[in-house]
Amino acid sequence: MNWEYLQPVVIKFGCGIRKEIKAAAEALGCENGLLVSDPFFVSSGLAEQLVSESDGILTGIFGEVSPNPDVTEVDACAKVIKEKGHGFVVALGGGSALDCAKAAASICLTDDSIRKYHGTGEAMPKEHLPLIAVPTTAGTGSEVTCVSVLTDHANGKKSPIVSDGFYPAVAMIDPELTYSMPPKVTASTGIDVLCHALEGFWSKGHQPVCDALALHACKLVFTYLKRAYTDGSDKEAREKMAEASVIAGMAFTLPKTTASHACSFPLTNLHHIPHGEACGLTLDYFARINAGAENGRLQKFAEELGFESVEKMADAIYQLKKELGLRTDLKDLSLTEDEIAELVRISRHPNLYNNPVEITDEMLSKMYHQLA
Ligand SMILES: NC(=O)c1ccc[n+]([C@@H]2O[C@H](COP(=O)([O-])OP(=O)(O)OC[C@H]3O[C@@H](n4cnc5c(N)ncnc54)[C@H](O)[C@@H]3O)[C@@H](O)[C@H]2O)c1
Ligand SMILES: [Zn+2]
Repeated sequence: MNWEYLQPVVIKFGCGIRKEIKAAAEALGCENGLLVSDPFFVSSGLAEQLVSESDGILTGIFGEVSPNPDVTEVDACAKVIKEKGHGFVVALGGGSALDCAKAAASICLTDDSIRKYHGTGEAMPKEHLPLIAVPTTAGTGSEVTCVSVLTDHANGKKSPIVSDGFYPAVAMIDPELTYSMPPKVTASTGIDVLCHALEGFWSKGHQPVCDALALHACKLVFTYLKRAYTDGSDKEAREKMAEASVIAGMAFTLPKTTASHACSFPLTNLHHIPHGEACGLTLDYFARINAGAENGRLQKFAEELGFESVEKMADAIYQLKKELGLRTDLKDLSLTEDEIAELVRISRHPNLYNNPVEITDEMLSKMYHQLA
């Protein structure tokens, strides 16, 4: 088996590490930075605090990133960067703020709208402003990935853009920033970590380094997510989930995600289910489907996690979702046959072809009928 591993992001991890943003920017030789964040951190005062603690290195805030950021937000953020002549970007928030900042830090160096590259297959230019990513969820792992997931709400399209230019220069993971996540956000973003690790492992593009990272991240999620959800002030659980998140990010950014992420896009777009919860909805289903793929390598993985079989691991994922108050079906949506057909159609996303077992429309239809 031939493989290549690359991880170009400098990773700084630890409680309080956010206080070193200024030093990290100075080490990159950056000045006149823009802080990109979401309304929660603007109203909590943290965005303003980071700017004032930066001693003039950060000079502005773009605080309007919404969950599942729209392509128009990227264009608006890029416009601010251009108009103010910002020299680098700090992204503070969950995957949404990070992804918006990544795309804006690239597109600001062109005359294009990000729409030119979203879901079109057109390659992004590699040039970009330096980006320091400071995640506040655990999480998407976006701080170490070359992916930016954007939505074009006007055209009903949610899709990742992949570009080497999206790797942040530095990821600063401060577990303290996740303490304020409410239980529902902890649960949804935490199950996303499990999806990244498992999908990275069983993906067609799997490779040994990412496999090892996936195993470590899965162990942490099965041990600490329930604790972080039950008691948000459990510092050890928060720290371990922050670790799981960044490690899972490294486990999937090269192999890429698979069927659960493909199915999440219409579930989020059409039915407003948060990203992690939408991915988690089908994770146990696809674990069972993928159990025998590639000579049963998932069986060995399940055993290393302490499960007798893939079936038992899938049962544990289902049970974990129930304990975290996450969806295990779509019954409350009273889906019509047309709506199920639409879910099947839009789930046919490139990530689906990265699943180790071929997923047919008949399989998707059966799955959605079971969930509905
Ligand atoms: N780039 C990648 O590699 C990658 C990977 C997976 C998912 N994603 C994308 O990331 C987005 C989801 O990101 P997310 O799950 O991190 O959530 P998010 O960034 O959308 O945030 C969800 C909500 O939680 C709030 N929040 C975030 N951190 C908080 C904190 N510490 N305290 C209180 N509230 C907080 C936000 O204000 C927001 O209202 C989706 O668009 C998804 O498709 C990207
Ligand atoms: Zn995800």
